[in-house]
Amino acid sequence: MKKILIAGASGVLGREVLSQIHQSGQYWVRAHIRDETKREEILPYCDEIVLADARYPEQLSGICDDIDIVFSTIGMSISMFAVEPGNFVDVDFKGNLNLLEEAKKAKVPRFVYTSIYASESSPRLMQGWSQEMFAQNLMHTNISHTVIKPVGMFTGLNDLIIMAKAGFLITPGSGKYKTNPIHPQDLAQFCVEQLESGPSVVEVGGPEVHTRNEVMDTVAEAMDVKLTVNIPEWIVRPGLLLIRLFSKNLYDKLSYFTYITTHDMVAPAYGKHTFEEYLKERADTKMPA
Ligand SMILES: NC(=O)c1ccc[n+]([C@@H]2O[C@H](COP(=O)([O-])OP(=O)(O)OC[C@H]3O[C@@H](n4cnc5c(N)ncnc54)[C@H](OP(=O)(O)O)[C@@H]3O)[C@@H](O)[C@H]2O)c1
Repeated sequence: MKKILIAGASGVLGREVLSQIHQSGQYWVRAHIRDETKREEILPYCDEIVLADARYPEQLSGICDDIDIVFSTIGMSISMFAVEPGNFVDVDFKGNLNLLEEAKKAKVPRFVYTSIYASESSPRLMQGWSQEMFAQNLMHTNISHTVIKPVGMFTGLNDLIIMAKAGFLITPGSGKYKTNPIHPQDLAQFCVEQLESGPSVVEVGGPEVHTRNEVMDTVAEAMDVKLTVNIPEWIVRPGLLLIRLFSKNLYDKLSYFTYITTHDMVAPAYGKHTFEEYLKERADTKMPA
């Protein structure tokens, strides 16, 4: 039986991949988490747990020993409301680089990494840049690899749901740009299909294409929000510079959010779950945002 390391196993995508792999019973699984308090939730789905902050190479020492496949979803949360230690360069770029060094030492044959759609076209944005720089490093090794570039997951739109709970919804730009977000279960299934083999880089999105305003309107309707606003870019840009003075991480996240809402983000379609179904699922399970 092949041995797999799921790095970032406590994240949205990591948990889904872990759960699907566990159900398949195909692999021996080492799960990497950063936060000790998540150990109990993850333990039932794996054979072994390793705790490490990827920013510190010494904490990752030996993490890839005897592993056949590394799957990494390590990255800073893209949510504007999440406050975490570190920044995109330290976590997404250097943290994954530290993991790659361990994979090289342990002679791991395959490494699958989740980046983000259009990371190569947004070099001035720290999230895209950090993920693209890591991906380029991975591509220049002799390790068999696949870099998966998804558009936003439905969970990435949770910030809209948080805003909706406060009674309003904001989208930077005109709202006319298009995207095809994907359900985490569909993306996890796609990732699982790439574990053994796949192209060097692959892009993926969900089954339906929406404009940003359609996404906003769907959330507004589902959550009975009356106030939806498109903020013109000429107002957003100086506002971002002001935010930068107080929080570089929030600036990086909002800059990225502005970039994706002011460009088309449409990748080859995969999966079957729609955004409307996802909102209904959330309402039915009363999932916290
Ligand atoms: N969400 C989206 O819509 C979306 C879309 C496209 C691409 N992506 C990319 O796909 C990847 C996974 O996304 P996701 O939504 O599953 O992210 P997530 O829920 O924020 O999970 C990220 C994982 O990385 C871990 N992590 C963060 N900092 C770390 C550190 N210093 N050391 C070790 N582990 C650390 C987190 O641990 P904790 O659980 O302890 O926080 C978590 O397990 C990310 O690279 C993201 O940029 C996401």
